Amino acid sequence: FFQDVTFIPPDAIFELTKHYNADRSAQKVNLGQGTYKDENGDPWILPAIQGAKEKIRDANHEYLPILGLASFRGLATELMLGESAPAVTEGRVASCQALSGTGALHLAGLMLYQALGPSHTVYITEPTWSNHRQVFEAVGFNVQSYKYYDEATGKLDFRSVEQTLENAEPGSIFVLHACAHNPSGCDPSEDQWRKMATITKRRKLFPLFDAAYLGITSGSYDTDAFAIRHFINDMGIEAAVCASFAKNMGLYGERVGLVSFVTQTPSAAMAVESRLAQFVRSEISNPPAFGARIVAAVLGDVELRAEWQRNLQTMSSRIAGMRQGLYDALVKLETPGQWERIIQQKGMFCILGLPLDRVLSLKKSFHVYMADNSRISLAGLNHNNVQYTAESIDKVQRS
Ligand code: LMR
Repeated sequence: FFQDVTFIPPDAIFELTKHYNADRSAQKVNLGQGTYKDENGDPWILPAIQGAKEKIRDANHEYLPILGLASFRGLATELMLGESAPAVTEGRVASCQALSGTGALHLAGLMLYQALGPSHTVYITEPTWSNHRQVFEAVGFNVQSYKYYDEATGKLDFRSVEQTLENAEPGSIFVLHACAHNPSGCDPSEDQWRKMATITKRRKLFPLFDAAYLGITSGSYDTDAFAIRHFINDMGIEAAVCASFAKNMGLYGERVGLVSFVTQTPSAAMAVESRLAQFVRSEISNPPAFGARIVAAVLGDVELRAEWQRNLQTMSSRIAGMRQGLYDALVKLETPGQWERIIQQKGMFCILGLPLDRVLSLKKSFHVYMADNSRISLAGLNHNNVQYTAESIDKVQRS
């Protein structure tokens, strides 16, 4: 049966983590996969999550409903859109618990494919998160990328974004990074988001927000949710939001996320939910409970929620501090290169703009690991390794 099955190379980012873990050097630095690490380079269990785990200690192990934990779905939807969002108060949001951000994207893809059919194109940014293309191709869509990031300047190419939105066929789906664009760290300004929303509405496009970094980007959830709320609440655009609680709650392995569709009427929302329920039932029957219970415990408790907001500040300010630290060290060393982009870009990542051979020699000769496109996860830096990282970059740049 399997003679004709061809081998596919392993996923690049998970492979990088594997190589980093196998590296026995004491100096190794992991700037690969985007996972938050504390000042000692260790995974961080957020105090808010610790508190929530104690609260749910006595939960039973029964199945959740097919659409997921109701309190989680309600609280997470209100968190994203705001409690008084018209779509929330009018009951126009269809929501379903998902296996983190990827699971949410997958369910969104299935739903859109069923609702719109195969003729609609999914637009993704170039570059984008390595999983976007395959998630939407896997459900059958034609996926097209457009220039988003200008390598020469290290900035957003907003003209290209505007033109692509203007020229896309009505009904095209645009996968938008709600904040902290992965991998570039370049987000539209509020004014640019407004322009994008206006074109989206006029051209009858469908925005699908990948919301993996809300709260951990600026430290304020509301600030980071600007684009989502502007499109949906201010402009009344129908949209999907695929939210993950991996980065902003540190719940990487629990796989807890939410897909929501904002529709025009409560009955449309009910119909969409019925479809989502059918997808879930046929794929996983019902979602895992632990992560959803934790998120609901945090969001449903005044003190834990306030603690979580402090934790978001801790993570985002440590990452911002490391941006500045790496930039300062490279400037001090007078390392050849354009480093302003490090402090201009936002979120967990930035693209250093190094060619592949230097990326590979950083790994081989200095044990500094980053994605092949020279994307680094700033969360892997700390006071013990930032100088070493800058010196390593300096050496490869001069070699
Ligand atoms: C990343 O981009 O490194 C993270 O989102 C982890 C992943 O799953 O790729």
